[in-house]
Amino acid sequence: MEKIANSRFSLHPLLAERWSPLAFDSRPIAPEHLGSLLEAARWAPSCFNEQPWSFLVGTRSDPEGHARLLSCIVEANARWAAKAPVLMLSVASSSFARNGKPNRHAQHDVGLAVENMVIQAQTMGLVVHQMGGFDAQKARRQLAIPEGQEPMAMIAIGYPAEVDSLPEELRDRERAPRSRKELSAIAFGAAWASALPDLT
Ligand SMILES: Cc1cc2nc3c(=O)[nH]c(=O)nc-3n(C[C@H](O)[C@H](O)[C@H](O)COP(=O)(O)O)c2cc1C
Repeated sequence: MEKIANSRFSLHPLLAERWSPLAFDSRPIAPEHLGSLLEAARWAPSCFNEQPWSFLVGTRSDPEGHARLLSCIVEANARWAAKAPVLMLSVASSSFARNGKPNRHAQHDVGLAVENMVIQAQTMGLVVHQMGGFDAQKARRQLAIPEGQEPMAMIAIGYPAEVDSLPEELRDRERAPRSRKELSAIAFGAAWASALPDLT
């Protein structure tokens, strides 16, 4: 299914065509494709090149690991995410390795790395759905995440499947159009909430 962004200005197809589906095929992702996804994340920019990201990965070749990640995901998400052949948890390092000071850009940088991965996935015919709906404390325990490392988002990755493969109660949501705020609500001139003259 396609859900192309209805944008006012032109967008690269990789961005326009990306969306977060619920319907995953259970077909596994080849190790070299998983490697490309993680390389994409690895080559993201970050503040002071700190690279404050880590990824815990559960694949079908490690059913126990996949189940461990899945067990941390809330039921409302687990019912569709269970099918995804790859589950990941992104983690942000809270302080700079270089001086131990708080890194207030760490979460921003983890988001950049994940978006790199999302776009790489899109080039490979894979789909990605991120989730805030998981138990971070449980993930910390189950996945042995140390202090100073903050669980950020669960990430389901796989090949897309037909809407009809979903339980009936999820199908309307899957078919719903993607929506966004207007550009004028997120892009201002040089003062908060002022109009950006070039776009009016
Ligand atoms: C950090 C983060 C957390 C999210 N948490 C959830 C979630 O728990 N469950 C869910 O179904 N979708 C979740 N999403 C997906 C968003 O709802 C989705 O990206 C948004 O509605 C825009 O839709 P699109 O990605 O299809 O354009 C999350 C996305 C992000 C980036």
